[in-house]
Amino acid sequence: MPMPTILIDAPTIHERIRAMAAEIEREYPSGDEIHLVAVLKGGFMFLADLVRGMSADVTMDFMALSSYGKGTTSSGQVRVLKDLDSSLESRHVIIVEDIVDTGLTLHYLQDILRARAPKSLRTACLLSKPSRRQVDVHVDYIGFTIEDRFVVGYGLDYAEKYRNLPYIAVLEGE
Ligand code: PRP
Repeated sequence: MPMPTILIDAPTIHERIRAMAAEIEREYPSGDEIHLVAVLKGGFMFLADLVRGMSADVTMDFMALSSYGKGTTSSGQVRVLKDLDSSLESRHVIIVEDIVDTGLTLHYLQDILRARAPKSLRTACLLSKPSRRQVDVHVDYIGFTIEDRFVVGYGLDYAEKYRNLPYIAVLEGE
């Protein structure tokens, strides 16, 4: 098993997420409800910390997606494995993702959620790797911009492991 080396430590992540939560709240009219849509599995930990930094009326839902041929093709085809439980119509919606890499997943997701007529649709990603982008996708809130390195932890996996690490790490040998 490769050894993870810390890239972004836990206190730095927590401080950044608190700032993001405050920034998000400032940008919505007070009293308005904010509906967060987290993308499984990677987004669960970011969502958990983000909502704990918010005092507005917040609701949340979860979606699971699967991409075809990831890393080998730019087809951008994405399949919905688990859809949302409730409608987005007339709600302030924020997509919560762990990472935007090629942007294909997010591009697809933004399209299908926009079609559900939310009052507003924004996106928050903990990590962004701009050098990997294949499609131009708009992300309203970015936690950290990183180099093209294989990262795990804080929700992100390697072969389904390491998601539980409380920090972002690079896998040595990757
Ligand atoms: C990761 C991540 C994003 C997507 C980003 O999910 O959570 O959804 O890849 O990549 P892209 O910008 O190149 O589309 P993954 O498919 O690894 O699933 P997981 O969250 O269950 O680990």
